[in-house]
Amino acid sequence: MKAMLIPPSRKYFDSYLEACHEYEQINEHSFLHDLYEFAHLKRGGEISFNAWKNGIIHQYYFDTINGKYQMLSVPSTTFWLVDETQYIGIGIIRHRMTKAIEEYGGNIGYAIRPTKWNQGYGTLQLKLLLKEANKLKINPALVTCDEENIASKKLIEKNGGKLRDKLPTHTNGKDILLCRYWVNTK
Ligand SMILES: CC(C)(COP(=O)(O)OP(=O)(O)OC[C@H]1O[C@@H](n2cnc3c(N)ncnc32)[C@H](O)[C@@H]1OP(=O)(O)O)[C@@H](O)C(=O)NCCC(=O)NCCS
Repeated sequence: MKAMLIPPSRKYFDSYLEACHEYEQINEHSFLHDLYEFAHLKRGGEISFNAWKNGIIHQYYFDTINGKYQMLSVPSTTFWLVDETQYIGIGIIRHRMTKAIEEYGGNIGYAIRPTKWNQGYGTLQLKLLLKEANKLKINPALVTCDEENIASKKLIEKNGGKLRDKLPTHTNGKDILLCRYWVNTK
């Protein structure tokens, strides 16, 4: 499988927007692909790459956790997983731990575009993100997911994740059990 992590790039931006539309079409929420949330970035009906790049930073700063809009992010690095022609997925590495990150987001967030699900890309992307986290001296990394997100749990476990605990949390309007894993980045 030929795919690599790159910083978000203008070259793949149309492909990234197609991936956002794929999420809309299946009515699935991925805050990393949320065109509705990006609406404020539109100028003349279109989102430009620069507006996205600057605006996404704002989005990473907040999320609704336990009913409150909370500061989630700390300095973070965003990567795209791409092949020669297409955008495949997105990953964020959050460099520092805060209470909100410990109780919700974890050090690493990720998503794969729906048309590329179930082809091993999620597992590969997390493996590459863990290497990048190690370069940032994050070890172990805290990686979290909803107990019901079987695919996400599998790819964390396939990358060596050890379950730390399951934390009852309320997010995106529902009560969930948040599985928190420690993953060695070496
Ligand atoms: C979670 C996600 C990243 C997985 O990506 P992916 O590319 O499909 O993952 P992989 O192909 O590497 O599959 C990993 C494992 O999950 C399994 N899997 C994939 N989709 C599944 C599903 N819907 N139900 C059950 N298992 C599933 C695969 O079969 C594989 O298991 P195996 O190794 O035993 O065969 C992807 O579904 C996604 O982007 N979801 C939306 C965003 C999201 O949930 N992000 C994570 C937030 S914590």
